[in-house]
Amino acid sequence: MADSATASGEVAGVGIRLAGEADLPRVSRLWSALAADEQALGVPIRANERALESWLGSFARHLGRFTFLWVAEHEGVVKAFLLARLKTRPVYLGGELIGELCSIYVDPDLRGLRTGALLVRTAIRGLQDAGANAIEVDAHEANAAACKFWEAQGFRVGFRTYRWRPPPQ
Ligand SMILES: CC(C)(COP(=O)(O)OP(=O)(O)OC[C@H]1O[C@@H](n2cnc3c(N)ncnc32)[C@H](O)[C@@H]1OP(=O)(O)O)[C@@H](O)C(=O)NCCC(=O)NCCS
Repeated sequence: MADSATASGEVAGVGIRLAGEADLPRVSRLWSALAADEQALGVPIRANERALESWLGSFARHLGRFTFLWVAEHEGVVKAFLLARLKTRPVYLGGELIGELCSIYVDPDLRGLRTGALLVRTAIRGLQDAGANAIEVDAHEANAAACKFWEAQGFRVGFRTYRWRPPPQ
């Protein structure tokens, strides 16, 4: 698989572009696959129609202003996406503009060919151009492959979320 990558480490035949409304049905199918994968890892994510609708509602109206959706196309088919948003830290925490990578998914056909890395580089540049000083992403501890992927992209752990839940009755 690695020989499909060019000398610069980019993927031959994969084009990255900002998504438009026409891409949302395909991106929705990819998101449903992502949700099912994460559910299988024990991440408390819903994978039903209502969850999808609510996910689309969380960004679709703000595309190009506070939310950004990039897709990777291979042979005319959208095979991967990355959704990001801009958020502002509270003033008492420095008031910085932060780029948050909300979700990324690469179709299993295309994995290991640096599509994910290319999407992340594109998003970092886009978010920096929009004024972000730092880029953040949450990954579930159970998703060991994702944690390795983020580290390979130069991300380092800054915060950990410790969670307590009442014991089951
Ligand atoms: C994580 C994901 C986006 C990676 O996309 P990808 O296009 O396959 O990754 P790349 O080919 O760009 O990988 C770049 C580097 O990340 C690391 N990496 C990627 N996948 C990895 C894996 N499964 N295990 C360990 N390291 C991995 C490697 O260092 C790799 O560099 P190398 O090819 O020189 O070894 C993809 O596997 C995916 O969509 N997974 C399911 C969804 C998911 O978990 N999303 C993240 C939620 S936080």
